[in-house]
Amino acid sequence: MSSDTFQASKRISDEIKADLAEHPDRYVMLTGDRPTGRLHLGHYFGTIRERVRLQDEGVTTRIVIADYQVITDRDTTEHIADNVRNMVIDYLACGIDPERTIIFTHSAIPALNQLMLPFLSLVTEAELLRNPPVKSEQEASGHALTGLLLTYPVHQACDILFCKGNVVPVGKDQLPHIEQTRQIARRFNERYAPVFPEPHGLLTEAVEIPGLDGRKMSKSYGNAIALSATADETAKLIKKSKTDSERCITFDKEGRPGVSALLTTAALCTGRAEADIAAEIGEDGAGALKRYVTEAVNGYLAPIRERRAALEADPGYIEDVLREGNRRANEIAEATLDQVREAMGMVY
Ligand code: TRP
Repeated sequence: MSSDTFQASKRISDEIKADLAEHPDRYVMLTGDRPTGRLHLGHYFGTIRERVRLQDEGVTTRIVIADYQVITDRDTTEHIADNVRNMVIDYLACGIDPERTIIFTHSAIPALNQLMLPFLSLVTEAELLRNPPVKSEQEASGHALTGLLLTYPVHQACDILFCKGNVVPVGKDQLPHIEQTRQIARRFNERYAPVFPEPHGLLTEAVEIPGLDGRKMSKSYGNAIALSATADETAKLIKKSKTDSERCITFDKEGRPGVSALLTTAALCTGRAEADIAAEIGEDGAGALKRYVTEAVNGYLAPIRERRAALEADPGYIEDVLREGNRRANEIAEATLDQVREAMGMVY
C-alpha cells in the first residue's frame, strides 16, 4: 500500500474516531476472530478491550467467529466446536454483552455465505493474487494456496457487508482487506443498485504486546498467556521465559527483547511506564522482575478469569448465546440477501 493511501485511511479513521463518541448510532462495527485456539493477552490488549469500549459507547457491534476461515490453510476442523465455545466464553468474560452485541459463526449463516457468489463476480484474479495478507499467510502456512485462502478477503467482505458494517477495527497490515471490501461494495452498487455502505478501517492504536520472548505473541510460538490459563500456568510460563545474563533490569526493546517484553506486559497490566518498573526492580534482577510480572498479569486477569469460571459452569447459557446470535445474524443476512436479489432482478 502506498503511503498516500495509508495517510488517507489514517485521516478518515481519525475523523471517525472523533465522531464515534458523539454519534455512536451512525456506526455498525463488524469484527471477528478465527477459532483456532484460545484468546490470549495479545488479542485482549490488541483488539478485545477496544471492542468492549466501542460497544459500551453505543456502537452497534457484531462479532463473527470465523469458523470457515479456519480451513483456509489447514486440513482439519479438529477441536473447532470447543474453540468456538471457549471464544464465546472469553468474549463474555471480557465484557462483550450478548444483549447488545451479536456473536455468530460463519457456518450457521447460509445467506451470508451466499453473498460470496455475486461478490466473486466483482473481483479479478489479479486483485486476489496481489492481496498482501493472503500472500504472507500462504507463505507462512507452507500449504498450497487453496481457493478458499485466495478468496477469503471476498468472504470477509461478505462478513462486513451482510450486516451493513461501516467500520472495521484493523491493524495497518489489514487495510488491503478493507480496500477490497470497499471496491466490492462500490462495484455492486454501481452495477445493480445502492445496497451496501463502503466501510472504513478504524486503525487501532493497538498496543502490540510482545510474546514472552519478544516476538509477536502467538500461540504457535508458545509465548502467549491465554486468558483461560490458570494463575499457576501463567506463573510457570513467565518463569521459564527467556531473559539474559545482565543483572540490572532496563527497558531496551532491541537489545534486551526478553526483559523488555516482560516489562511491557507488566506495564499494560498495571498502567505504569516500563522504565519506572525497570528502575524499581533494578539490581534485584530477572527473578524479581518475573515475580512482579506474574503478580501484575494474574491480578489483572483475576476478574476476567472469575467470570470465565462462572460461564464455564453454565454450558447451556453459552449455547443459548450462540444460538441467539446466529438467529439474529440470519435475520439480518436474509434481509440483505433479499435486497441483493431485488437489485439483481432475481426475484422469482
Ligand atoms: N481474519 C480475522 C482473523 O484472522 C477474522 C475475521 C473474519 C474478520 N472476518 C472478518 C475480521 C471481517 C474483520 C472483518 O482473526
